[in-house]
Amino acid sequence: MQHGVVTPEFIDTLKSPSSTGTIGPKRRQPMDPKQSARSTQADEPLPPHTPLTNYYDKDAARSRYVLDLFNRTAKHYNTIELLFLNGGLLYRRLSLRRAGLKKGMKVLDVAIGTGAVARGATRLVGSEGRVFGVDPSTGMLGQAQKVFKGPLTRGVAQELPFASDSFDFVTMGIALRHVSDLAATFREYLRVLKPGGKLWILEGHTPRSGLGHKLTEFMWAKVIPGMTLISTGSRDAKLLMDYYWDTVDQCVPPEGILAALEAAGFENAKYELVVPGAFCEYTGTKAQRSH
Ligand SMILES: C[S@@+](CC[C@H](N)C(=O)[O-])C[C@H]1O[C@@H](n2cnc3c(N)ncnc32)[C@H](O)[C@@H]1O
Repeated sequence: MQHGVVTPEFIDTLKSPSSTGTIGPKRRQPMDPKQSARSTQADEPLPPHTPLTNYYDKDAARSRYVLDLFNRTAKHYNTIELLFLNGGLLYRRLSLRRAGLKKGMKVLDVAIGTGAVARGATRLVGSEGRVFGVDPSTGMLGQAQKVFKGPLTRGVAQELPFASDSFDFVTMGIALRHVSDLAATFREYLRVLKPGGKLWILEGHTPRSGLGHKLTEFMWAKVIPGMTLISTGSRDAKLLMDYYWDTVDQCVPPEGILAALEAAGFENAKYELVVPGAFCEYTGTKAQRSH
């Protein structure tokens, strides 16, 4: 696919399969939680985690699985946010402000979902600024449309349908684990940012060892999926939260993500653990001039 052009072939690859197939976990297979940082050569593919074969057979099936899961659960996503009293929405806005998002800026929110980040960004950039949203899930884009009035495009992070040097800020909330290739994604983020532009990524956090990991696992793998099932009545929504925990727990560790950001060409790549067991953040800047 050429940048800036969404071809019919590309859209076909994004189409959700029939919703009659099973998408539930098949068999659990323990993953190594201490998976170390992998290769950070800028042009080598870097999946965000090893295949989770209790959900799908092989890595090639992952993107389709994720897309189907989000399409099926889009209508429940805001109910899940309400379990946290919408504190996550406020958190996103305050964090963006802290990261330097200001009036008049042009923002691309990747993986817009139901607009949790984009809504906060819209308030911060004001009427002089503009926020664009992109997401591969038609279900999520349909939900976003109800609350977000900016332009929405269907597409994936690792192949963004936008021109180079377009945005002051690129944002991504709680979705990095779903891209097919971290290295390609970060190259795309760098490409679409204007010189001097900033990247902000919000991710889930899990302590890697000890009591912190056990408590976080109990909360995210048991309590929250259970509360999700009770509040939505949807097994798919519960599955989304099961999958959330497994992907956060198995994700490339922060040092691997920072190395990939640097390998892609970001300057001042930083990791900040803001709410242990809940949120961590990555930021980076595109150089003012290319070296
Ligand atoms: C957990 S939701 C996050 C929504 C929102 N950004 C937030 O902060 O709540 C994850 C989103 O990532 C999207 N997604 C999945 N794979 C993606 C990809 N390869 N590129 C961009 N977005 C993707 C899903 O469709 C879904 O809307």
